[in-house]
Amino acid sequence: MKALVLSGGAGTRLRPFSYSMPKQLIPIMNKPVLVYALENIVELGVTDIAVIVGDWAPAIEEALGDGSSLGARITYIQQDKPLGLAHCVELARPFLGDDDFVMYLGDNMLPQGIGEIAEEFRVQRPAAQVVVCKVPDPRAFGVAELDADGAVTALVEKPQQPRSDLALIGVYFFTSAIHESVAAIEPSARGELEITDAIQWLVTQGADVRAGEYDGYWKDTGQADDVLECNRRLLGELATRIDGDVDGTSELIGPVVIEPGARVVRSRIVGPVIIGAGTLVEDSRIGPDASIGSDCVLRATQLADSIVMAGASITQVPGLHGSLIGRSARVGPSDHAEAHHRLMVGDHTRVEVAA
Ligand code: DAU
Repeated sequence: MKALVLSGGAGTRLRPFSYSMPKQLIPIMNKPVLVYALENIVELGVTDIAVIVGDWAPAIEEALGDGSSLGARITYIQQDKPLGLAHCVELARPFLGDDDFVMYLGDNMLPQGIGEIAEEFRVQRPAAQVVVCKVPDPRAFGVAELDADGAVTALVEKPQQPRSDLALIGVYFFTSAIHESVAAIEPSARGELEITDAIQWLVTQGADVRAGEYDGYWKDTGQADDVLECNRRLLGELATRIDGDVDGTSELIGPVVIEPGARVVRSRIVGPVIIGAGTLVEDSRIGPDASIGSDCVLRATQLADSIVMAGASITQVPGLHGSLIGRSARVGPSDHAEAHHRLMVGDHTRVEVAA
């Protein structure tokens, strides 16, 4: 089996981050979302992986390299415009040949892995197998309707009136039968070649299309609040590891990871918290539920339930909560006028100040 990972697209819902980095590289517990996807694939024993990349190709290639650090061999496939998930399958045809493959959307988090569903596909080998999860409001997703035996009877992309509560969660298993249906479908009203339409075409042709229900935690990390929720969830499983320096006046409570070269000085860390390599935390109170990237500086700051990306610095901010701080961002007191706020915020940035 091969794998096709989709990491192109625009990611506009994650603005302002999507102006400077692809959404698939947003770190959750200090590791890019896309790396979790690749780890889940390698865990299946699948190592021949194509990654679809768009405008952010250089950043993604820098993050993943040739895949050897993950035990995989990565082939990059350029998609010039985000013309749809089925368009990605079409582009990857020379790589895929007639092999079975798993298609994985690079912005979806399934921390419990996809081993069981992959096994079902291997044993039953239907023409296609989608992975679904019950959600309270499926209107933002592809929605599957199943018969009593778990066979898919219909698939609709983002329906206004969903006829089931089973959302497609970004992982699909295909035999080579999918290529004929991708060639047969037309772009949807939003101008994309939809994978849901391609799978529906298979259903209409009478092919065996099945659904595996995923009962673990799943998150499409398309929006900032989803990213924070996922961060909290993963931190909930953190095990303490102290590889950096913690001075005698600091206090660590609960599960805390301090990476090599990080320093904690006169601070209180309430886990779960991860502090990245080379980061300095001084006179601060951090946590719970905080992921601080590498080479950050946090001074005289109180921060909880947040993600701070690599190279950021935060000084004298007493009550940061539910925040996403981008790479090399600086947050702190004004150099000029003590009584004023001075903001240099980019397009589509969100700043909420305490009244
Ligand atoms: O998250 C699950 C949902 O993902 C499913 O329920 C939907 O059926 C499916 O269409 C998809 O919907 P989204 O609106 O969330 O898709 P998005 O545009 O975010 O793209 C998903 C991933 O695929 C993302 O990593 C970007 C990448 N992509 C997307 C398009 C449209 C590409 O690489 N190329 C593309 O042309």
